[in-house]
Parts: sequence; structure tokens; C-alpha cells
Amino acid sequence: MTNKIYIFDTTLRDGEQTPKVSLNKNDKVTIARQLEKLNVDVIEAGFPAASNGDFEAVKAIAENIQNPVIVGLARAVNKDISCAWEALKYAKKPRIHVFIATSDLHMKYKLKMEPEEVLKKAVDTVKYAKSLCPSVEFSPEDATRSNPEFLYKVVEAAIDAGADIINIPDTVGYSTPSQFGAFIKGIKNNVPNIDRAIISVHCHDDLGMAVANSLAAIENGAAQIECAVNGLGERAGNAALEEIVMAIKTRSNYFNCHTDIVTEEIIKTSGLVSHITGVHVQSNKAVVGVNAFAHESGIHQHGVLNCRETYEIMTPESVGLKKSIIVLGKHSGRHAFLQHLMELGYEGLSSDKTDEIFKKFKDLADKKKQVSDEDIESLVKNEIFHVPEVFKLENYQVSTGNAVMSTSTVEIGYNGKIIREASCGDGPVDATFKAIEKATGIKVVLDDYFIKSVGSGKDALGEVTVKIKKEDRIFSSKGVSTDIIEASGIAFINAINKLYYAYHMDCLEKSAAY
Ligand code: KIV
Ligand code: ZN
Repeated sequence: MTNKIYIFDTTLRDGEQTPKVSLNKNDKVTIARQLEKLNVDVIEAGFPAASNGDFEAVKAIAENIQNPVIVGLARAVNKDISCAWEALKYAKKPRIHVFIATSDLHMKYKLKMEPEEVLKKAVDTVKYAKSLCPSVEFSPEDATRSNPEFLYKVVEAAIDAGADIINIPDTVGYSTPSQFGAFIKGIKNNVPNIDRAIISVHCHDDLGMAVANSLAAIENGAAQIECAVNGLGERAGNAALEEIVMAIKTRSNYFNCHTDIVTEEIIKTSGLVSHITGVHVQSNKAVVGVNAFAHESGIHQHGVLNCRETYEIMTPESVGLKKSIIVLGKHSGRHAFLQHLMELGYEGLSSDKTDEIFKKFKDLADKKKQVSDEDIESLVKNEIFHVPEVFKLENYQVSTGNAVMSTSTVEIGYNGKIIREASCGDGPVDATFKAIEKATGIKVVLDDYFIKSVGSGKDALGEVTVKIKKEDRIFSSKGVSTDIIEASGIAFINAINKLYYAYHMDCLEKSAAY
């Protein structure tokens, strides 16, 4: 049997630190459920002391997720650790992750602490975490720019204090693969009690080497890899989970190890995370980009048709890409549709949701001859990953042209009533957004807007992603339609619903606290 590599997913913690990404409790629990299906070993659910919202999300994940270890991050400060434990104590397998920086640069300018103070803090706080929680992970932040002799001392002391996992972060993505491999080997050879802990690594992608560095660490004794779906994370992100996992699987003879990831869930997980975070996956992204299994040149197509291995080192099926043999259209009945939804992995939807999705499918089938799996997945995701629809875009009408000012009239459903408002704008989308703001009475800053087609051809669906900002909080949402003004309006109103829900929930939480 080959060595097992533990997959520690930090999409919900470091991944959430991606610029312009903000996840609410429901988003996080939805992603955590999918990570459980993907069979990750560890989910870093958040940083409970960072905010009330993060605390509640970690607690909800701890209460609802059964199989993976659930981790809460904490600075090397007792109040962070107590807070992490409060959120984690309901988990079947809890772990507290304590970190403190060990590089001269961070100790001097960020912590303003002497090395001996940092060493003492690390020991005291790991001991405190261990007194609360059976599993403790310790990270010397900015490890790769730390003095190795000092790092060895801190790691040894943290293990003596009770750390079960020692995570070595390349916090600023500065290492190169051979250097990082040697760094891990140095830790193995110079920390006398290292055999009592699991070595983990956490690589950032500032120079595009996070995955290569993580793999080099495996070759030198690391048994846990911290990574994030689609490579999300602070700045340029973390090592991409899907790339690490498929590299290990495809080159298992070379690495002599394996993971327990259900790789057939990779595409679904990637799509879900992209949908919820609003972070688009580039077409040529390894493993999960739409081009990852597309063969464009005639020579390649010919080769693959004769023998798949000529140009494919892994099968599309192994990451969960299925070629549909059923084509659905306007004559497809409810039974065939429901059967197909199950084949796509969407079981257990409530009958209300199923009715709504089937209705939307029929509307779409009226406009398009054939409805593809991509179309259906897009409809389903937009229907199921919503907060309650406080405001609903019922109708709209735009008038636009290159020689006139665009105007838009919208009818918004709210509380059983219809509110009608009109506005001018710089183009039909802007006019529609302004009319929606007037009708809902909620003014926001539009932080991001992009549009992409789902499927191909002139009847492809337009999928619009909108990010709105209010008081430094960002809310992201999507809308799909064959009409891009409608897709834009739906995305905008969905984002407003998220905002409304977040503020409303905050009020409820606050009033419950008094
Ligand atoms: O990049 C980093 O150093 C981190 C630590 C908290 C592990 O995210
Ligand atoms: Zn990080």
C-alpha cells in the first residue's frame, strides 16, 4: 500500500480571504457538505475570532459535518483559542490550528516581539489549545523566510507542548520546489521529536509554484497538504486542491502515495465553489478549466480518436465530466427531467424547488431546441443556492439605442405587492440596476460585473455575475437567462436579497443576544 496524503481543504478559510469574496453561513455549510462528498480529510472552516459571522459558520459546520476533521484557526492568543474551541466543541473530530510568525521580518515589524517571546507564546498557546481540544495543529507563519535554526527550536517546542501536526507555510509564495523540498528535509533531519507529529505544508502561489512546492514537500516527507478548491486564497491563492489530487493520482507510481479523494466529485466541487464565490475559473485552468479536456487541433483529435492516451493523461470521467447521452428538449417530461437531475448528482431537492426548476427548464426549452447539461446545472445552481427571495424581478422593459438615453421600467414583487419604478442610465443594464435600487430602496455600489455564455451557439444562456458592496461588505450573485438584461437584473436582485438577508440576520442575532 502506498502512503496516504491527507488533504486539508482551506477553501472556507484562506480561500475566503480571496479579494472580493465573502461567504455567509449558508454558503459555507453548502460548500462544506460538498467537500464532505469529495471526501477531504480536513476542512478548515474559518477563523472564529475574526467575526461573529465566521464564528457562527464554523459552529454550524462543526454541528453538521460528520466525517472530516473540522478546524478553526486561531492566533497564538488565548482568547482566539477559547473562541475557536467554543465554535468547534460540537464537532465529531475538532482541531484547533494555532499560528504565530517566526521570520525576523514578521517578528520585528508585525508582532514587535523578540524571538524568545515568540517561542514562549507558541509553547504556552499550544499547551492551552491542547488542554481544550484533542487535536492541535501549529503553524510557524512565514516559515520559509525564517532562520532555520530558530524554526527547528520552535517546532520542537511546539511538539513537546502538544502539537500533533506541524504545518510549514510558504506564506508569501517565495520558495522554489527544490528549495522547499530541501527545507522540509531539513526539518525532518533537525527536529529531534518530529516523528511525533505529522508534517503538513501550506503553499501560496505568488510565483505560480504552490502546487509544485507542495509536491516537492511530499517527496521529502510531508503527509498533509493544505490546499483550496480552484486555488482560491489570499493574493494569488493557495495550491489548487484539484491539481494536487490529480497529480498524485495520475503520477501515483512516481510519488508512491495516494489520497482518499473521490475525484469524480472534482468538477462539481469546482463549479459550486466558483458559483458561490463568484470567482470565475479560467478556461485553460489545469483539471477544471473548460478547455482541460478539449482537443482543438485536428492532429490531436485524430490521435485521441485512435487511442485516447495519445493526448490524454487522465480521463474526463475521472474528474466527474460526463458526456450526456440524453438530450432534453421541450417534449421531455417531468419524469425524464427528474431522472436526469439525479444523474447529474442533484438528489433530495424539495418538491417546491423541483417544481420551480422544472418550470424554468420548460421555459428555457421553449426558447432553445436542446437544453444541455450545462444549461440545467446553471438553472439548478441558481435555484438552490439562494437566500429567500424577499424581492423578485417580476417584469421589466427597456428602451435603448445608440442615439437615445437608455431607460428601464421594472416591476418588483415584495411582500405580496408589486412596486413599479423607472430610471434612466448609462446603457440598459445600468438603467435596470438603478430602477431596481429605487424600487427596493436599497442603494449599493456595483463592485464587479461580468458576463459569460453557458454552452455555445447563438442561443447559449448568458450567465451574469454581480458583486455589490455596502459598508465594506460584498455580496455576490448570479443570474442566467437567454436575455442578458434579464440575467443582469436577476443577478442584481439576488445580490440585494443576500444583502437584505445578511443585515436582517445580523439584527436577529443581535436582538437574540440581548
Ligand atoms: O499563509 C499562511 O501562513 C497562513 C497560516 C495562517 C497558515 O495562512
Ligand atoms: Zn495562507
